[in-house]
Amino acid sequence: MRLSAVGAVLCYLNLALEVRDVVAVTKENPRVCIVGAGYSGLGAARYLKDYGIDNFKMFEATKHIGGTWRFDPHVGTDEDGMPLFTSMYKNLRLNTPKLTMEYVGYPFPEGSQSYPTGVCFHKYLKRFAKDFDLIKHIQFQSYITSIKWDKDHWNITYTKVDTKETRTEDCDFVVISNGEFSTPVWPKFEGLKLFKGKIIHSHDYKDPENYRNRRVLLVGAGPSGLDLAVHLSNVTTKLVHSHHLKYNQPFFSDTYVKKPDIRKFTSNGVYFQDNSFEQVDDVIFATGVLQKVFNCVKEAQGEYAAALIAGKFKLPSQEQMLKVWMTHVRDMKAKGSSILDVNDIPDGTGMYYYFGNLTAEAGIYRRPKVFADIREYTRQFRLENLLTFRDYDYKIIDEENFVKWYNPRPGNPCPFDE
Ligand SMILES: Cc1cc2nc3c(=O)[nH]c(=O)nc-3n(C[C@H](O)[C@H](O)[C@H](O)COP(=O)(O)OP(=O)(O)OC[C@H]3O[C@@H](n4cnc5c(N)ncnc54)[C@H](O)[C@@H]3O)c2cc1C
Ligand SMILES: *[C@@H]1O[C@H](CO)[C@@H](O)[C@H](O)[C@H]1NC(C)=O
Ligand SMILES: *[C@@H]1O[C@H](CO)[C@@H](O)[C@H](O)[C@H]1NC(C)=O
Ligand SMILES: *[C@@H]1O[C@H](CO)[C@@H](O)[C@H](O)[C@H]1NC(C)=O
Repeated sequence: MRLSAVGAVLCYLNLALEVRDVVAVTKENPRVCIVGAGYSGLGAARYLKDYGIDNFKMFEATKHIGGTWRFDPHVGTDEDGMPLFTSMYKNLRLNTPKLTMEYVGYPFPEGSQSYPTGVCFHKYLKRFAKDFDLIKHIQFQSYITSIKWDKDHWNITYTKVDTKETRTEDCDFVVISNGEFSTPVWPKFEGLKLFKGKIIHSHDYKDPENYRNRRVLLVGAGPSGLDLAVHLSNVTTKLVHSHHLKYNQPFFSDTYVKKPDIRKFTSNGVYFQDNSFEQVDDVIFATGVLQKVFNCVKEAQGEYAAALIAGKFKLPSQEQMLKVWMTHVRDMKAKGSSILDVNDIPDGTGMYYYFGNLTAEAGIYRRPKVFADIREYTRQFRLENLLTFRDYDYKIIDEENFVKWYNPRPGNPCPFDE
């Protein structure tokens, strides 16, 4: 696989998708193909329209828009027998304030809570698609399998998941926005095969009710791991939580037990690094559903792509881009980072610089620094106040300042009906 100039625009590739070669040629009335109708794809589509490009089509594998924000009760494969992309679960609420998730110029109504439910955010996305008249551009149940350069256009090949028919279409540009969280990371542990209970990845976790009166081992303390600890601690008979995050652990319940990293599994339980042992019925791996890139950055990538396609700016020469890329790869190697992380956007300041460079290069809107500040502030605040951090509302008052106040909303009212 060679990385493409256009592919590099939105470039978290699903391994199932094959992309070959590289080019970005400016054309009159170009035809644009977008892979996926989640947050990123819908955002890119909106900017194409803003830049006067109407000749585009979004290819969406499922029957639905909204990607990972749609709750699907199926596990593993969906209603069409396709691998399930969404990782949404019952009772999920955003773990970053909606300010960091809203599209530019399209806020939630004034007064809505800062941490709405996932269901509510999905409604927001559906409304966005409707208001920007994007639905007519979406071709559903079309699963892209390969994208290949053919002299002067891209061949984009997909399977119609309803009829299983394979088709190829021409595109001048391709925007890849097929998501980044659908491939669960399975850790390896000694004895895991011996374990007789049920093992799932948090990608397949749906509902705490499935764990009522069970003894459960939960592994990991990323955003999903901590969230699941809250959701499960009151329904399980025992919740054994293995992780090594340093944070202000709240009182979950009497049945919650914190454990260090795992040493090995047995048929009915697990040994930890401190040699303690716990019997468990079920295991949930909340490992590797990592969540790094700020939605604002994804949105800006969409605008970057649209501005490029509209000819508002030009990419540097291929040679120059390759040089920068190789320097980046060498730096990563020198730091001992895995090549698998080569497309990662760094956290914190690194992301802020990335955002700055991206928007400066394309001459597009850059959100003021207060967005990055809120993001950093709330990341820390969450770890200190895991059970209550969503009870606060945030408001931006100017380019540098925001305010926060306590405002719990029982029942999590959503301002959208559908
Ligand atoms: C459980 C969970 C909670 C999260 N919570 C937050 C949060 O609170 N705050 C935050 O900032 N971020 C959060 N995120 C990150 C979230 O992924 C982003 O907010 C964002 O929605 C990602 O949108 P996307 O469009 O890039 O990807 P997705 O939402 O994954 O959409 C990708 C779309 O592409 C389609 N697709 C995939 N492959 C193909 C193909 N080959 N052909 C055609 N279509 C294809 C999929 O069906 C899907 O519709 C969370 C993620 C998860 C999983
Ligand atoms: C592109 O698709 C056309 C039509 O299906 C086909 O004839 C051609 O060989 C394809 N090109 C490549 C490079 O695969
Ligand atoms: C769990 O139960 C306790 C005791 O009933 C209650 O105080 C607490 O709020 C519950 N926690 C959650 C997250 O529901
Ligand atoms: C671009 O990134 C570099 C660091 O890689 C940073 O020093 C610079 O300030 C960034 N530019 C902008 C406009 O943010």
